[in-house]
Amino acid sequence: MKKQVVLYKKLSPPLMARLHEQAQVTLIEDLGAQGLAKLRGALPAAQGLLGASLRLDAELLDLAPRLEAVASVSVGVDNYDIDYLTQRDILLSNTPDVLTETTADTGFALILASARRVVELANLVRAGQWNRNIGPLHFGSDVHGKTLGIIGMGRIGEALAQRGHFGFGMPVIYHSNSPKPAVEQRFGARYCSLPELLQQADFICLTLPLTDQTLGLIGREEFALMRPESIFINISRGKVVDEQALIEALQQRQIRAAGLDVFEREPLGHDSPLLQLNNVVATPHIGSATFETREAMARCAVDNLLAALAGQRPANLVNPQAWERRKAAV
Ligand code: DGY
Repeated sequence: MKKQVVLYKKLSPPLMARLHEQAQVTLIEDLGAQGLAKLRGALPAAQGLLGASLRLDAELLDLAPRLEAVASVSVGVDNYDIDYLTQRDILLSNTPDVLTETTADTGFALILASARRVVELANLVRAGQWNRNIGPLHFGSDVHGKTLGIIGMGRIGEALAQRGHFGFGMPVIYHSNSPKPAVEQRFGARYCSLPELLQQADFICLTLPLTDQTLGLIGREEFALMRPESIFINISRGKVVDEQALIEALQQRQIRAAGLDVFEREPLGHDSPLLQLNNVVATPHIGSATFETREAMARCAVDNLLAALAGQRPANLVNPQAWERRKAAV
């Protein structure tokens, strides 16, 4: 008998066809009020779930007593109550690797756009305000040769270091849980403490996941350590930063600019003070949002889900303890 799968993200026709071949599929097209009601109605039968951008907490999971596997179409797993999933022996998988390069591209797009004021100055041209040669009032900052500071040296941090080191001749400094000798060798990167990085980097880039340990990691004290020339880039999660402290740092010119792809609350409120600031480049969480990468992520999630439902260990298992417990129970 085919297993029951609830999709809360539409997939491409080839992936939909593959899933239909192997499972009984219920598709929730959007996560508005109606979609959520449909999801709640489908959860009691669900054995597999696949989607993204939904907080899957214990309350929702309790509606799904038959659930065996959840495949997230994301690398970040902060939307999931991992302890509760593990307690229920539900396998959670994610989609690392396939989005690394694209997300690092987004990071560099934000570095370049905020340093060279690309959005602000393109808007000036569009508004018909390019009336004379650009002068110091509109100059930006160099990117090449400046110090690139990376907080969180995982896969995406490494891909950012690679771009900075080889593409822009940037000295790379980084802070993470522990030093990474291989990264130091490949990119001439130097490990330093968080305060040291905040004081020394020209570009301060956040690439670390949201966890209990990183929640609110960058707040008033940390912004106070940055220099007036510093540019702050966030491609990780909004909640790693105290957004009010960031707004104040930008308003008071404690830092020069920010390139932000993620926010405390998403979508970002139209009334956010961040949108009043010319020195902010804000994008709508586009880290991995290219045709190629989103398809690769969806394919990876389908592979993970089908493997889990077939009793195999998915390639990108987030909670191996759930797998061990299941095996022990057989
Ligand atoms: C992820 O995969 O976690 C990204 O933030 C989504 O683009």
